Amino acid sequence: MKKWLAWLLCLALMLGSTGCAAQKAAVSASAPSDLYVIGYCQTGAESDWRVANTDSMRNVFTEENGYELIFVDAQQKQENQIRAVRNFIQQQVDCIIISPITESGWDEVLQEARDAGIPVIITDRMVQVSEDGLYAAYVGSDFRAEGDTAASWLDAWLQSSGRGSDTIHIVELQGTLDSSAQLGRSEGLAAGIAAHPNWVLEAQECADFTNAKANEVMTQLIARHVQMDVLVCQNDDMAMGAMAAMDAAGMVYGAAGGPIVISFDATHAGLEACLAGKIQLDVECNPLQGPYVEKIVQQIKNGETPPKRTSVEETSFEADTLTQNAIDARSY
Ligand code: AHR
Repeated sequence: MKKWLAWLLCLALMLGSTGCAAQKAAVSASAPSDLYVIGYCQTGAESDWRVANTDSMRNVFTEENGYELIFVDAQQKQENQIRAVRNFIQQQVDCIIISPITESGWDEVLQEARDAGIPVIITDRMVQVSEDGLYAAYVGSDFRAEGDTAASWLDAWLQSSGRGSDTIHIVELQGTLDSSAQLGRSEGLAAGIAAHPNWVLEAQECADFTNAKANEVMTQLIARHVQMDVLVCQNDDMAMGAMAAMDAAGMVYGAAGGPIVISFDATHAGLEACLAGKIQLDVECNPLQGPYVEKIVQQIKNGETPPKRTSVEETSFEADTLTQNAIDARSY
């Protein structure tokens, strides 16, 4: 919309100064379309989940649906995200969408967007800001609920396997620190540990949501002979990297004996590992957020006030009950 006004002004100035037909034609050729311009800054491409999340957004914000999407991959760096948002403001986009890498550090740039009159939608992960008027709406997961699901499943699983009173040594591989996904999932596990004096957190290491980093960290934990009955990986990519390290060390785990693995995301690869009995529980983190976000954009476009928070639907999968059909029916 704003682009149209700027272009009309430009056109009036040019015609007023020259009145030349050739210039008129040149201006028409470069006229902006009537598409609604979205500046979307994605975290990066660190995981299978992220790739599915990007696809979901790209699938709805298409020209056929009336959008021009300016997509920026921030390569896992918050400074890149802040720079991208400032560029979007300069370009006077109609709406800004951010998947924030970390929760803190957003007040200033969100204030700049508000001053420019551009609505901001936060998606996937959340921001911690001084006032929630700095963004229009949030669409994403309830990460704390995901962590709680993992902890209560572990409690039930230990009880049913007769180990409810045993000392349980837990190792946690965390995602990017200060990201909502890390904070919520860690809080859920911490609450479970606080409620069970026999659960002991033996190690807590950051592996940045990547397979490679988890492989490296897990290799070190194995070399240090860290006691481990339960390995909690905060996403499937890290679970894959950690399991590869256990395989390389000749360790037995999962249904075959040894430590059990709990993971998050429920990607195709994660669920195949779950079906094979390598991951005991995979808590879903739903990446298909594009349609939810698009609905919010439509409400903003229509001058309506969108809900401040929308949680996407999520479930969880257990090795004991998962089927190949259930995996095949999923799109990521
Ligand atoms: O914020 C969602 C998390 O980020 C997903 O669990 C993980 O795979 C991604 O990188």
